[in-house]
Amino acid sequence: MARKTSNRSSAWQKPSTVDLSDGWSLVTNSKARAARLTPLTSLSKKEEWSEEQTAKLIAEVADYLETWKSSDCFRTFSKMIQSWSQDVTIDNIICLGLGSLCTSINQHKRRSIWQLVVFLSLSELLSTSPKPRGNRTIKLYAQEPRFTAADRTIFQSYGITVLENLDARNYITPNIIIYAPFLQWTIMLQDILRDQNPAMCISLNIRDALDQIVIKLKSGCSGASFEGTSLGRREMESCVTVGEAFLVGREDVEFPDFELDANALRGLRIYTKVVGDVD
Ligand SMILES: C[S@@+](CC[C@H](N)C(=O)[O-])C[C@H]1O[C@@H](n2cnc3c(N)ncnc32)[C@H](O)[C@@H]1O
Repeated sequence: MARKTSNRSSAWQKPSTVDLSDGWSLVTNSKARAARLTPLTSLSKKEEWSEEQTAKLIAEVADYLETWKSSDCFRTFSKMIQSWSQDVTIDNIICLGLGSLCTSINQHKRRSIWQLVVFLSLSELLSTSPKPRGNRTIKLYAQEPRFTAADRTIFQSYGITVLENLDARNYITPNIIIYAPFLQWTIMLQDILRDQNPAMCISLNIRDALDQIVIKLKSGCSGASFEGTSLGRREMESCVTVGEAFLVGREDVEFPDFELDANALRGLRIYTKVVGDVD
């Protein structure tokens, strides 16, 4: 059964950014403290991308997509998605925390492109699923505070709406897939998953996150720092409540091994509502 989802207009709050002394910055739109972001050095460097560079990147994404679709990992992933999607109706897919594709750090760029092509293939798999969908099309959204104008152009070229206001949680319904490749769990548990019951969520390991918090709570400490974010005792308790509620009635499996770039996806888990508990 779906838990009550939040009211869209009342839930939005102005995002805030906090610079940290260790060279990272924090961005949040929740009441909770901001969550850790990428180094300020990359943020402050406003790379100007020419149309030519953007076109080159679009072609690169297309190449990655083709390569991804020839991988064993994609074959396993597509079987999982096709079998799962027989029993559910998905209206939206939202991609959170992908990183910018317009970075001079090649390793980051590669990871983000691999993660993007997984997102693109996910929407293709669901759109071509044999299940009758009536006239509904799947809407695609993405949220990433580091997106540049060129990122937006690339995402829009795939029909993805970029959420400029960092108000992703207001788009979450029970018929959504949340795809959050390595988005910090502090953001997932304080903001994205609070009072939400998505049909599928692909993210970091939520159980591991809860175990870390519970250890701190049991030690009796009044607060602790996780992923560069300080949480007080109440915030930690609230994260545990959100995480435990999310895990009720869910199955989870590891994302299949990606043989072409082991680090791009390793550590992600796929959470689904158990059949019979699906809206
Ligand atoms: C740990 S990095 C992961 C980046 C990339 N997916 C990867 O695996 O290399 C987390 C990303 O989440 C983004 N982020 C931070 N706050 C966010 C928010 N509220 N919504 C969406 N993305 C956010 C950061 O800008 C950063 O790129």
